[in-house]
Parts: sequence; C-alpha cells; structure tokens
Amino acid sequence: MQYFVSSDVLSAQASDCVAVAIFEDGKLSPSAEALNSASQDKLNNCLARGDISGKAGQLLLLQDLPGINSPRVLLVGAGKQGDTTENDFNSASTAMAKWLNESAAQNAISCLSEIPVAKRDDAWKVRQTVINTETALYRYSQTKSQFKPVDKPLENLGFLATAANQADFEQAAKTGAAIGHGMNTARELGNLPGNICTPTYLAEQAIKLGQEYPSVKVDVLEEEDMAELGMGSFLSVSRGSRQPAKLITMNYGGGGDSKPVVLVGKGLTFDAGGISLKPAQGMDEMKYDMCGSASVIGTLQALAELNLPINVIGVVPSSENMPDGDANKPGDVVTSMSGQTIEILNTDAEGRLILCDALTYSERFDPDTVIDIATLTGAVIVALGSNATGLMANNQDLADALLKAGNDSYDRAWQLPLWDDYQKQLDSNFADIANVGGKEAGSVTAACFLSRFTKKFKWAHLDIAGTAWNGGKEKGATGRPVTLLMQYLLNKVGK
Ligand code: BES
Ligand code: MN
Ligand code: ZN
Repeated sequence: MQYFVSSDVLSAQASDCVAVAIFEDGKLSPSAEALNSASQDKLNNCLARGDISGKAGQLLLLQDLPGINSPRVLLVGAGKQGDTTENDFNSASTAMAKWLNESAAQNAISCLSEIPVAKRDDAWKVRQTVINTETALYRYSQTKSQFKPVDKPLENLGFLATAANQADFEQAAKTGAAIGHGMNTARELGNLPGNICTPTYLAEQAIKLGQEYPSVKVDVLEEEDMAELGMGSFLSVSRGSRQPAKLITMNYGGGGDSKPVVLVGKGLTFDAGGISLKPAQGMDEMKYDMCGSASVIGTLQALAELNLPINVIGVVPSSENMPDGDANKPGDVVTSMSGQTIEILNTDAEGRLILCDALTYSERFDPDTVIDIATLTGAVIVALGSNATGLMANNQDLADALLKAGNDSYDRAWQLPLWDDYQKQLDSNFADIANVGGKEAGSVTAACFLSRFTKKFKWAHLDIAGTAWNGGKEKGATGRPVTLLMQYLLNKVGK
C-alpha cells in the first residue's frame, strides 16, 4: 500500500475513485459540494432520493458522473455535521478502506480529512485514515491452505492537500503507515498459534527485524545465560515447558547518548496456567498471552521505519506456562534476580514471575523510563472492558504522559491506583512476597507485585489483557497498544 498527497483540483483527479463525506440530513462536505457543482447537482439528487442517510460509516457508490474525471465517487457517511466523533471518523475511514480494497478501484483519493472532528486537526485525520486503512487491509493467512487474496486490492490512497499543509500531510501519512505496519506485525505474531509462535520463533522474528533495520541491534539470552544472571523466577516458569525460554533484547539507537526508554513486553507464547490449570473453555485465547511482547516488537519496527531520534530498548522475556512434572507447584518458593524470594501461590500468575526478572535486568541499561506491557490480569477486563488499557505507574508525570499519548492517538488508557494500601495483600508467611494478592483489586495487586522490582527507575505498567485482542466472531489480535507507545515516543521527541 502506498500513500500520497496531491494538490490537484478534485474534479480533475484521474483516480479510480474519490471518496467524499456527506452528513446526516443531506449535508455535503466541501469536496462533496465541489463534485456536486461539477456534476450539475448529481450528488444532491441522490441524497434527495434518500439512498444514504449520512450515518457514520454508511457508503453509496455513484458512477460516471458528468464533469468528473474519476469514474467512481464514493459517498461516505460521517454522522451529524459538526458532531462527528473520533469513533465516527474511524468508522467512516475504515468503511471506506474496506470497500475500496474489495472493489476494482486500486487508486483512490480520500477527502475525509475535511470532516470536522472536535479538537483534531487535518493531519491527525490523515494519520488516522492511514492507520485504519492498514488495519482494514490486514488479513491473517499464514496457516490457511485455501487463502485467496482479494482480486484487485487497494494500492494507492491519496489525500488532497493545499500548499500550506502538503508537508504536514506527507509526514502524517508516513507516521501512520509506520504505526500501521508495526500494529500489523504485532497482530500477526499474536494471531499465530502457540505451536508456531514459540519463544524461539519470537527470537527469530526479532533477529529478522535487526537484519532489516541496522539501527536495531538484537541479542538473545538462553536459559543458561539467565541461570547465570540468577533469574530464578523467570526460569521457574519455563521449567514446566519443553520449549526453551528466551530473553530477547532489541536495542534501537536513534538518540545519540541520551538515556533509553526501555519497553518490557510479556511474551507468554502459551499460558495454560501451569499446575493451577485454566479451564478448557476459551483456553485457546491464551496463545495471545505474548501480545505485550508483540507490541514491543511492532513498536521497535515502527521506530526504525520512521528513524525517530530516540533510544529505545525492547526487552522480551518469552516462555510457555505449562503443567508438567517439573513445573512450579503452588507453595513453591523461588528466588528472583533481585534477590527477593517469591511464594508461588498460584502458578497461573506467571506473567509477573517472568516480568520481575526482566525488570531487574532492565536496570543495566540505566533507563530514563521503563514501561512494561502485559496481558497480565483477567481482572482488568472486568474493570475496564476492551476499550481502555489499564495503567499504573510509580511516577505521576510518566502516567500523565502515557494518558496524554493515549488521548492524542485515541488508543486510550485509564489509570488505576498503585497505593501502598494494596501492598499488604502480597504478604507471605514463607517468602518476601506472594505472587497473588487475593480476589480484590487483582490488576492493582499484580502491579504492586511488579513495583517491588522497579524501585530504581521511573516505571509504568500497561495491562492490555482487555485491549490486545478481540474475542468472539471477530477473534484476532488488535495491534494495541503500538499506537499509544509510538505516540508517547513521538511526543517525547517533540514530533
Ligand atoms: N494471561 C493471564 C491473564 C489473562 C486472563 C489475560 C484472561 C486475558 C484473559 C494471566 O497470566 C493470568 O492467568 N492471570 C490470573 C492471575 C490470578 C491467578 C491472580 C488471572 O487473571 O486470572
Ligand atoms: Mn496465567
Ligand atoms: Zn498469562
């Protein structure tokens, strides 16, 4: 998919299709108005017949309009004029992209950026349209023997610009494409089954990323290396699996000698729960338990594609969590790399057991900031559903920066308290800390557990159990929160 920006007059565009917005009650956007005048009122005639109401995401194709070069004009509903929300805009641009991809039109112009959306500028809408197009065009195919790609896919999508905003639009399209590619990398890794996407496979994908982008240096630690580092907590989880664990480090150096942002992604390529076995119903979805690590890999890819001037290190602890004769047992006590001992009361709270050692490991990078991204708790789904990522942090400026990045990019997070009050739920009679904190505030106590390993740096935790994938008929990874992370990094470098 290619994106371009054009400043030619709309009616003269020789594209296969031009997409213009219309609003409820038959109101035309400026571009729709221009096409309507050029075609002697054809658009108004269609609207008067009531063929499209203008609800966000509705579509109506008009063909061979007189006075217009392009053979197709796609009317796209954008809601009530002046009331279009971000969700409406996303519905409209997604519907447009899907339709274009499935139609015979392979080159198209989108005029949707002129839809007014409160507090969003046109460049935001260009970027969002590109992200939504990348998302809409993604198809999972790797393990389908009968997969057929669409006949005439969308290949070029253009945006109308003026001399004044041409450069902004080009930058927005470039940023959107990099984010979209990063999201799709994350989605593909998430969607792959656990028998293909193993810790070894994740390590191989990271190595490939490093081969594609020399700005990313990749290093993979094996179990022996981790044993030497004293990662007794991480290794206790992988001991129950036939698949060797990996600790993957991806070092993106774009920022000279500034301190790095470290992104730590939970990489459980399958979480059966271990001896505290999960119920069979829906257990297949635990192949998604590596979506945190996938979002880290996707973010590193997007950073490298954009050449952003910042240092970012991705750290991915990857393992399976399986029941086995050698697996962790409830009541076992293990020693983490930090020296703190942990009583494992529930072997299904394994994410924190691998993350704690990866967080301690992150100290060696002398980080500016550490952010972990993890499908950590079912409780966050109960609290926030699938709309907001759960955010907890030991530094309010960092929490605010991430909340802002979420709002800016519309990949939003919501903060939960990380108060001392909750820490006592982790008291253990037999170790320094227990790995579970009882049934109350499960997402907060999980973060409290991690906070014991993050005292030496500014740290935030993103619980993405509700946002990383969709269940049901639309089952599949979402690519979240690559957009949020990229926005945070873009804001940090002032872009
Ligand atoms: N990977 C799960 C969290 C999860 C559950 C994500 C459901 C998405 C959907 C995690 O390893 C886990 O099992 N957490 C337990 C913690 C509990 C034992 C304290 C949970 O949430 O049930
Ligand atoms: Mn688990
Ligand atoms: Zn898990």
